[in-house]
Amino acid sequence: MNPTTMLYEGKAKQIYATDEPSVVLVRYKDSATAFNGVKKAEIAGKGELNNRISSYFFRLLTEQGIPNHFVKEVSALEQLVRKVSIIPLEVVVRNRTAGSLAKRLGFEEGIILPEPIVEFYYKKDELGDPLVTEDHVLVLDLATKEQLKTLKKTALKVNRFLSQWLEERNLILVDFKLEFGIDEKGEILLADEISPDTCRFWDKDTKERLDKDRFRHDLGRVIESYQEIWNRLEGEKNV
Ligand code: C5P
Repeated sequence: MNPTTMLYEGKAKQIYATDEPSVVLVRYKDSATAFNGVKKAEIAGKGELNNRISSYFFRLLTEQGIPNHFVKEVSALEQLVRKVSIIPLEVVVRNRTAGSLAKRLGFEEGIILPEPIVEFYYKKDELGDPLVTEDHVLVLDLATKEQLKTLKKTALKVNRFLSQWLEERNLILVDFKLEFGIDEKGEILLADEISPDTCRFWDKDTKERLDKDRFRHDLGRVIESYQEIWNRLEGEKNV
């Protein structure tokens, strides 16, 4: 399964073809970007931790029966995943106010929402990934009604499972972003990554931010926080 041609390079990952047409290799990079690419930096060790953390979450979700693209972790920076065509929507689930929601609606961060909010953002870099309503998605044909239903249902299932899993490790899952793709059989698979780059994780007691907000807002100790997440996940095994 040797990587051959690079198919795509994103802000935090490269995708390579393999000798298996239905499988691609993802290589995580140390690059970090925020505010739609305006802020950039290299964070040594981030690629490795995100590869590990994302692989870990995808293995858990596979055990929970959630269809996803993950095949296996193959090296410190790389994982094999099933090739999918990405649905151009970012699906965000929020359990507490934070980030763009807090800013847009003028709420302080950390308010517990009585039930999770699911939002959709249209994946379009040049527009800064705008928030869209379900009507936008359907009428502008960004996804079908059936697909939208599956995305929402799956995102809420992932939220229920991960929130509980993280709470047992003294972490609050404040919010996170998922992406989905369609494989060659037409099946919808959870794709992309689940890591401190794409989730907000707060310490349950101190509310310390242990995610990309440390980079976004110059809070320092970025890599140490990603490492802390990994330690809490794998702490029980002392790996
Ligand atoms: O910025 P905002 O509050 O909308 O982000 C909500 C969640 O989605 C956060 O966990 C953030 O890390 C994630 N996100 C992401 N990629 C984006 C936008 C948001 O992973 N392009």
